[in-house]
Order: sequence, then structure tokens, then C-alpha cells
Amino acid sequence: MTVLTLVFVAVIQSAGTSRVTPFNETNRKYLIRGMLIAGVVIALASLIPWPHSVSSANKAIQINATGYQWYWELDKEEVPVGTPVIFNVHTKDVTHGLGVSDPKGNLLFQTQAMPGYVNRVKYVFSKPGTYKILCMEYCGVAHHDMMSEIKVVRK
Ligand code: CUA
Repeated sequence: MTVLTLVFVAVIQSAGTSRVTPFNETNRKYLIRGMLIAGVVIALASLIPWPHSVSSANKAIQINATGYQWYWELDKEEVPVGTPVIFNVHTKDVTHGLGVSDPKGNLLFQTQAMPGYVNRVKYVFSKPGTYKILCMEYCGVAHHDMMSEIKVVRK
């Protein structure tokens, strides 16, 4: 953004003047080459998986969350604070939406529970408490009752 801003400022300052000199041509070549190299380096760097995400995935806790009309089946109901939790979300009947809200009712994340698919969401709970598992997709007459809880505890 900074480079782009500087380029715009240079273009605006030189607008209306005809200062095409060998010096400007050389600068432009260096600028274009520099931006190309920076673009390639940034693209390659952003494709490399970060070490912390690999290590945190190794110690992550898995929760299998299955949606049914109209309840959630969770194979764990208690997780520790500060540990990555991977929710494997799927459904045995219709499409549901798994949403997790904190003890104050703020929605933290959500994903769809779709027949034939397992959607994975990773989340790290930073505070202990009782978190609600909600259904975020209308799935029938008792959709509003489709709630469950998980407890986040200090080890
Ligand atoms: Cu399940 Cu709405």
C-alpha cells in the first residue's frame, strides 16, 4: 500500500509535465523490477504454511458435532481454555447451521452442517464458561429449540 501510494503521488506530481528523461526511464525500470520481485516473494511467502498453525493443529482437540431434527449430538462437552478445538460438523438428516456463542450471547463462529459433508472449523476458546451451540439454519418446526452447550474449563 505504501509503494502504491508513493507511485500515485509521483504520478500526480509529474502530471502535466513532460519530463521523460533517461534518468526517469531507469528509475521506472528499477521500480517495475522491484515490484515484480516483491510480488513474487510475497506470493511465495504467503503460500508457505505457517509453523504455528501446523503445531497447533497437532495438539488440537476434535469435537464431532452431528445435527439431527432437532438436537446436536456432541462427542465432547468439555474442552480446556487455550487449546485449539476442531469442530467436525455434519448432519444425519437435513441441513443445519452450527453456531457457537459465548456466555454473553455473542456469536463467535458458524458453519453449515450439510448431508454428505463434514465441515471443519478450528477455534481457540480464550475464556472459561458455558458456551451455547445453536442452530443457525431453519430446519423445521423445532429449529429454535436446537441448542446444546459446551463447557470451557481451566486445566
Ligand atoms: Cu437445525 Cu435449525
